[in-house]
Amino acid sequence: MLPNWEPPTSDLSSIADFAVDEPVDAVIGRLILMHLPDPVAILRHLAGQIRPGGLIAFGETDITPAGSVPVVSLVQAVKDGISVCGRRRMPLEV
Ligand SMILES: C[S@@+](CC[C@H](N)C(=O)[O-])C[C@H]1O[C@@H](n2cnc3c(N)ncnc32)[C@H](O)[C@@H]1O
Repeated sequence: MLPNWEPPTSDLSSIADFAVDEPVDAVIGRLILMHLPDPVAILRHLAGQIRPGGLIAFGETDITPAGSVPVVSLVQAVKDGISVCGRRRMPLEV
């Protein structure tokens, strides 16, 4: 945590509603875009909220290349199930 800085809080119901009066320096997030139906549209929207030269950084995960050697059908089924869950919109925790 940076000294003398508190993270802003809001009552957003969706990242799509994120809007600021003044452009911000950066937007960061983790494991969010992977749940959105149109992450590219959200990135475009966020790009309009940051100052020129600002930063957008998201850490996401993609388990599609995961598997086992030898191939085990149960591992594949679990991986497929996790992928399906990741594509679904999750309830917000705000
Ligand atoms: C796997 S959790 C990650 C939580 C946290 N960012 C972390 O790294 O621990 C996925 C998060 O995405 C959020 N999320 C899903 N759809 C969203 C949306 N449309 N707008 C904002 N957040 C969303 C959920 O509320 C949830 O907190």
